[in-house]
Amino acid sequence: MDKLIIHGGRPLNGSIAVSGSKNAALPILLSSILVDGPVHYANVPRLRDIHTTNKLLNILGCEAAFTDGDGNGVRAEALSLVPEAPYDLVKTMRASVLVLGPLLARLGRAKVALPGGCAIGARPVDQHIKGLEKLGARFDLDSGYIVGYCEELRGAEINFDFPTVGGTESLLMASVLARGQTVLRGAAREPEVSDLANFLKVCGAKIEGIGTSTLRVEGVEALHGCAYSIMPDRIEAGTFLVAAAITGGKLLVRDCPADKLDSVLAKLEEMGAVTEKRDEGVFINASSPLLAAQVVTSPYPGFPTDMQAQILALMTLAQGSGTVEETIFENRFMHVPELGRMGADIRLSGSRAVVRGVKQLTGAPVMASDLRAGASLVLAGLAAQGETQVQRIYHLDRGYEQIEKKLLSAGADIFRAKDN
Ligand code: UD1
Repeated sequence: MDKLIIHGGRPLNGSIAVSGSKNAALPILLSSILVDGPVHYANVPRLRDIHTTNKLLNILGCEAAFTDGDGNGVRAEALSLVPEAPYDLVKTMRASVLVLGPLLARLGRAKVALPGGCAIGARPVDQHIKGLEKLGARFDLDSGYIVGYCEELRGAEINFDFPTVGGTESLLMASVLARGQTVLRGAAREPEVSDLANFLKVCGAKIEGIGTSTLRVEGVEALHGCAYSIMPDRIEAGTFLVAAAITGGKLLVRDCPADKLDSVLAKLEEMGAVTEKRDEGVFINASSPLLAAQVVTSPYPGFPTDMQAQILALMTLAQGSGTVEETIFENRFMHVPELGRMGADIRLSGSRAVVRGVKQLTGAPVMASDLRAGASLVLAGLAAQGETQVQRIYHLDRGYEQIEKKLLSAGADIFRAKDN
């Protein structure tokens, strides 16, 4: 297993480019199942989850592979689909459950292993299932697999109990080929959902209300192949902005989707960083001391839960006392004890963390428990005195493309080493 070794205390400078969005790429690549003909994707990040997605597509009878050497192009084509997504793959990537809708739409059958628990809470899939049932699918549970079938999918009114990103994506994918009109109310408005809807439209789907909480879909007979470029990753961009902030640096985050990061930019400004939207991206200057703040995660356009761990790391070194409240996922504070080992002063009470800024963090061996928790430990390591070793970075490799190379290019002292 690999680990990252960081010698902290160097302000980030220069520029870092943002890769394509993992969370947009996953459902969009999986939507290849819905399409007749080849799809050419650009700006697909080379990440572990994307390789898993391509593997899953291959097993389901849909060709999918990177095409251009070390580049970011993927070609996919559904050739002879089969309906079963095996446990071995699903257990490594919960988003695999998103194939239920497309398989039901194309084959009238789907057998997908239940994803099971996960480090950041129980994460059930009841909203996916309830919605697909409204479209006419029936489900059984068989030896750890969800088995779904339908004669055809028919449009329906679906009211989500709360905004769910994956649930909205599942129902969008299923409804584009359903007979008649589907209305999704209480839909998630995350930019990644909109990127999926935009992709489906380019393939010939009829979708209205993109970016709002009510999506109207008029089912079509078939979707056709196209070329599509995945949106930049707003969470990766936000992570680099915090990396600059925590090291007191000045950094241009190139291709940063600034219009989709308003809540994060506003919080960084509130804490005392200066940010500037430019044509090439977002420039951040954090050379003045930062102040503590109150952060509450909420669905888009609120503060993203996927930036909670990173802003919490930043707060450990800000002046004064702040709070971070997590409202989307239970059990998403696994980074707190690890940050504590580096000298952070954080008290946890249920879904709320009270953070008192300290003068200095100290490098230590720490362990990533999930993707964003891992990111927060790297950020803390960049600012800490001495050496930090972040172990279990396979979590980081799920969501950050070449993170150590990007940080190194902006002046960080960071390298990847084997655990032994
Ligand atoms: C997606 C993102 C993840 C992000 C999250 C919230 C991907 C691959 N992952 O996850 O990085 O943190 O959105 O922005 O895009 N829930 C249910 N029943 C359901 C579905 C969800 O109870 O059927 C709950 C979840 O447990 C969670 C909340 O709803 O508490 C939000 O989950 P959801 O928006 O669906 O997140 P994901 O799509 O899993």
